[in-house]
Amino acid sequence: MTADFAVTWPGRGEPEPPGAYGPAPEVVETVRGDDGEVSGAILVGDGGRLPEAAAALDALGLAPAGAAQLVYLDPPYNRGGRFEGYRDDMPRAEWLGYIETRLRVARDLLAETGTLWVHLDDAEAHRVRCLLDDVLGVDAFLADLTVESNPKGRQLDRFFAGSHDRLMVYARDPARVRLTSGVAAAVDPADFPHTGPDGVNYRLLPLRNTNKRFNPRTAPTMTYPLYGDPETGVVAVDPVPVPAAGSGTGMVEIHPVFGDLTPAVWRWSRERARERVDELVCRTVRGRSGPRVDVYQRDRHEEGRVKKLKTVWLSQEVGSTDTARAELRRAGIEGFRTPKPEALMRRIVELATETGDLVVDLFAGSGTTAVAARDLGRRWVVVERNPDTVRDVLLPRLRATARPDH
Ligand SMILES: C[S@@+](CC[C@H](N)C(=O)[O-])C[C@H]1O[C@@H](n2cnc3c(N)ncnc32)[C@H](O)[C@@H]1O
Repeated sequence: MTADFAVTWPGRGEPEPPGAYGPAPEVVETVRGDDGEVSGAILVGDGGRLPEAAAALDALGLAPAGAAQLVYLDPPYNRGGRFEGYRDDMPRAEWLGYIETRLRVARDLLAETGTLWVHLDDAEAHRVRCLLDDVLGVDAFLADLTVESNPKGRQLDRFFAGSHDRLMVYARDPARVRLTSGVAAAVDPADFPHTGPDGVNYRLLPLRNTNKRFNPRTAPTMTYPLYGDPETGVVAVDPVPVPAAGSGTGMVEIHPVFGDLTPAVWRWSRERARERVDELVCRTVRGRSGPRVDVYQRDRHEEGRVKKLKTVWLSQEVGSTDTARAELRRAGIEGFRTPKPEALMRRIVELATETGDLVVDLFAGSGTTAVAARDLGRRWVVVERNPDTVRDVLLPRLRATARPDH
């Protein structure tokens, strides 16, 4: 795909300054899955140089080029802090160049169906959104999620108590992307209060498009009359012959209108309404402008139905930085300050991949991605530049949390 948007900044395209790249990554440990095959690899080195480890990973059966279903990037946020083993205060132009290099590496690692997830906060996220549009294409954008990372808020921040991160999701190819965007657990059966003759519960959704952006001017093909009998609820797409006087079928012509009676449009085309007319029902409603007949879709609570996740992810659902530090402490590890919580990484891995898919993390840190991918039966490759973090945090964590039979 060609990029349909470009962004620039002073110094874009200049080579990374000497010493900016870390060493080429080397495999320091592998993990085997239930089938005894190598399923995960930990590398020490610069994630931006992962392609240089292709031969070693190939030999392990984990060659990532064009094969990763999920690439997760949680780089230094460039907030100005200094953490164990890495500085988080690069000059902006330099930091953007460093991110661009790794976004390009990440893009080339992705399978055509894969997704790239970039975790940042509001210090740099808006600039990286532009860069992602440039590197992956505007159409590749899937979501810009808000993740509550600190429910109490960082009271030491200057003006507002920072409490969220940004998690930007892009497809390698939006036409082929494979991503589950919902979870069954999020569907609340109480939202489906009616029971149909077949015993399946349903709710009534207005067939009218309630978004005012859509109206007969902006969506002219979505406005057409339907016909319905509010006594029986029956709906028809084609005009029903006028009954003989006195036989009274009660069919009336129904047009989509907003509450103030200004013209609206339906959510379904006429063809779709014809195909699925059995799902439609009409009712008399008492609006602000008096009674009128409106059309509804019977939306059934089918087995296995999932609900799309909202774009705000609360710490009650996915944990917080405090939760993540507590998880490390439980594994006997102190001192790593920027881990992600396991529930968050499990959610991402579950949405973006299936069993056996390949997950890559170019900024592994304490190894939360590795833990989630391993525990969910995925194959995985993680790279961390700081050898001390790998030795003192990531490897001990993987060992401490491994199932006894591994
Ligand atoms: C925000 S932390 C990642 C935290 C991780 N997601 C977790 O759950 O623990 C960023 C990590 O990236 C590492 N890092 C920085 N630059 C890197 C690079 N070029 N290649 C690989 N790792 C890098 C840092 O040492 C740090 O451990």
